[in-house]
Amino acid sequence: MIPDEFTNSNFENYQRLSKVQESMYQSTFDYLKLFKIETGTEGRKKKIIPPWNFGFVAVFGEQRLKELPSSERPAVKQKHNNYGIGKTHLQVSLAKRLIKDGFNVVIVSDVMFMEQLMQAKKMSDEGESYNQLLRNVLNADVLIWDDIGKVNWTEPRERMYYTIINERYRSQKPIVFNSNEDRGSLAEKIGYAAASRLIGQADEFLLETEGADWRLKKGAKTHV
Ligand SMILES: Nc1ncnc2c1ncn2[C@@H]1O[C@H](COP(=O)(O)OP(=O)(O)OP(=O)(O)O)[C@@H](O)[C@H]1O
Ligand SMILES: [Mg+2]
Repeated sequence: MIPDEFTNSNFENYQRLSKVQESMYQSTFDYLKLFKIETGTEGRKKKIIPPWNFGFVAVFGEQRLKELPSSERPAVKQKHNNYGIGKTHLQVSLAKRLIKDGFNVVIVSDVMFMEQLMQAKKMSDEGESYNQLLRNVLNADVLIWDDIGKVNWTEPRERMYYTIINERYRSQKPIVFNSNEDRGSLAEKIGYAAASRLIGQADEFLLETEGADWRLKKGAKTHV
């Protein structure tokens, strides 16, 4: 469930050297604090789960970047980099803590998950595989959606996004998400109705993030 690359990721080994890293870390931690396990009078445990979503999005999304003339792209990409800044690292760290505390957390990665859903929909098993996948993401206490809006837009995909996001919105269950798209381009990728609910429900927990790519920094180090 936790991608291999992030087996060792946690809050403790997320370095906070820049303002962006500090605010990304702090907001993830503040969000974590909204979850509680309370013990009732008869000793029964009760989960307190916030209805708010929590998201990291780009300032200047991938889709918009691709639409720029190629001569302008490198400068804008450099200025507003959103890749490798630790979005997944922090949200996986959050997931690990919530799982440890007893919450039921499901992590999906956009490309793989959308593919699985589309495959399951085509199967001739009276919708069993498809419903199972759907139940899994609709019932989780917390759904973590990594890289949302990565796949290209298609009408059936837009319907899928809407179904899941709207259902969780209706039952006031949170979605934690991160994207290389910005608020505007994310809406174009997942559909306006889905984006309105996803982003609207994040309220103060929506961060537009950009900074230095950690992967490039590491690469540079190993090559000197
Ligand atoms: N501040 C940090 N301290 C320690 N490790 C970091 C930090 N930022 C990123 N990393 C590491 O760098 C790698 C890339 O980070 P991560 O995958 O979380 O970035 P991302 O923002 O999700 O990027 P993308 O949008 O490309 O998916 C990971 O291995 C992660 O553990
Ligand atoms: Mg990521």
